Amino acid sequence: MRVPLVAGNWKMNTTVIEAEELVYDILDTLDRIKGVEKVLCPPFVSLAAINMMLQGSSIKLGAQNMHFETKGAYTGEISPLMLRELCEFVILGHSERRWYFGETGEMINKKLNAALTHGLKPILCVGERLEENETGRTEEIVRKQVRTALNDIKLTPDLVVAYEPVWAIGTGKAASSKQAAATIKLIRSILAELWNKDIAQNLRILYGGSVTSNNIAEFISQPEIDGALVGGASLKAEEFLNIVTQTAEIKGKPV
Ligand code: 13P
Repeated sequence: MRVPLVAGNWKMNTTVIEAEELVYDILDTLDRIKGVEKVLCPPFVSLAAINMMLQGSSIKLGAQNMHFETKGAYTGEISPLMLRELCEFVILGHSERRWYFGETGEMINKKLNAALTHGLKPILCVGERLEENETGRTEEIVRKQVRTALNDIKLTPDLVVAYEPVWAIGTGKAASSKQAAATIKLIRSILAELWNKDIAQNLRILYGGSVTSNNIAEFISQPEIDGALVGGASLKAEEFLNIVTQTAEIKGKPV
């Protein structure tokens, strides 16, 4: 039984004060929504303040990236030991990290390993670019990203995967729910090949890319899709609450 998960990836948006205001606006209503795991991923600098605000609530916190070493001379980086005092989840391998900051599959594999070793739950992002989609290479790319990221990683129920086609991110052009479900089914079969069928059946795989309150119902109605990784729409209080509410209504399970 897979409990649906909706995560808000705020990306490089909100100052600390703005982040606190956004949490203030959604906290009570979001806390009361049952049957869905709810995760907020604000910028690093707001994690400590928001961690305090979320104490005693059902809302969980995630980071947007992480270095794979625990400490050392890595100016500007944040380690798993720093994060685990503050949050439960960490987004890894987001396409913006892959394409703007040169993260390789090998780096993402090390990060994933480090996150799991230190008790953080990774949200691993995979997805093809437009030209790859248009030339029919989606399966090949997604297979390679999943296999590289999970190379030598031990079977774990803590992993969450997010299928985020790059061409759907921030463009307002979401994938069709059928297309997303088909690729998510493929990802689940790759996980079954790598680990085993039972664990693959229990892992949550999300869709991300231009999710809004207008299209969440279509995505979440697909049996293969276990939730959403929401970017832009997670920065608007009403919109995010609406997305989580619909997810709970359509697919909520006792958490
Ligand atoms: P948008 O919802 O803004 O398209 O972003 C999706 C995303 O990248 C979430 O990680």
